[in-house]
Amino acid sequence: MASKNPKQSLTEMNELVLPNDTNTLGNLMGGRLLHWMDIVSAIASQKHSNNVVVTVSVDFVSFTESIKLGELVNLRAKVTRAFKSSMEVWIEVFAENIPEGTRKKCNEAFYTFVAVDVNNHPITVNEIVPETADEQLMFESAMRRRQVRLIQAKRMKPEDAPELKDFFGF
Ligand SMILES: CC(C)(COP(=O)(O)OP(=O)(O)OC[C@H]1O[C@@H](n2cnc3c(N)ncnc32)[C@H](O)[C@@H]1OP(=O)(O)O)[C@@H](O)C(=O)NCCC(=O)NCCS
Repeated sequence: MASKNPKQSLTEMNELVLPNDTNTLGNLMGGRLLHWMDIVSAIASQKHSNNVVVTVSVDFVSFTESIKLGELVNLRAKVTRAFKSSMEVWIEVFAENIPEGTRKKCNEAFYTFVAVDVNNHPITVNEIVPETADEQLMFESAMRRRQVRLIQAKRMKPEDAPELKDFFGF
């Protein structure tokens, strides 16, 4: 199926941290943020594949800064690379304190989605065409991240991951 989005198009989502989203310290709970990241990256991969997608893997999640009650959470997602039926999405999260006029990057993660048909069978998606140098880097490194996650999931043997071997020199 033809994709309307062969590029690494940006998908954005905004959320306001409300009391029910926080722990007793008034910080956004990690699970709520993972849920929002799942939604924004599902939208990005649906837009690329023009199809229903399911989450198959979540990895390289970092929580570097806490996000406070009342802050605006800006989530930015891009499909870095599409393989056969799966797509890797990179999500960056920023927290904005509107009254203070501050904005900081708080988190990032990679989610992998698979486009499926009505019977939950994987279907082929179109490739991504990187345009900028940064996009090209993300595109190339996506192959190594895919190999790491497939090895961890026991779906690939390390000896079948040439890009990883070359990169780490083993
Ligand atoms: C996603 C799903 C349909 C894949 O089914 P499957 O029988 O494993 O299909 P395949 O072996 O053909 O794999 C399909 C793709 O998923 C990828 N994949 C499977 N497991 C993966 C993992 N742990 N990490 C990354 N990619 C994975 C495969 O590499 C393949 O990608 P490709 O087509 O781009 O090469 C099936 O595993 C599923 O339904 N999972 C549950 C999804 C879900 O409910 N998510 C919500 C979380 S609660």
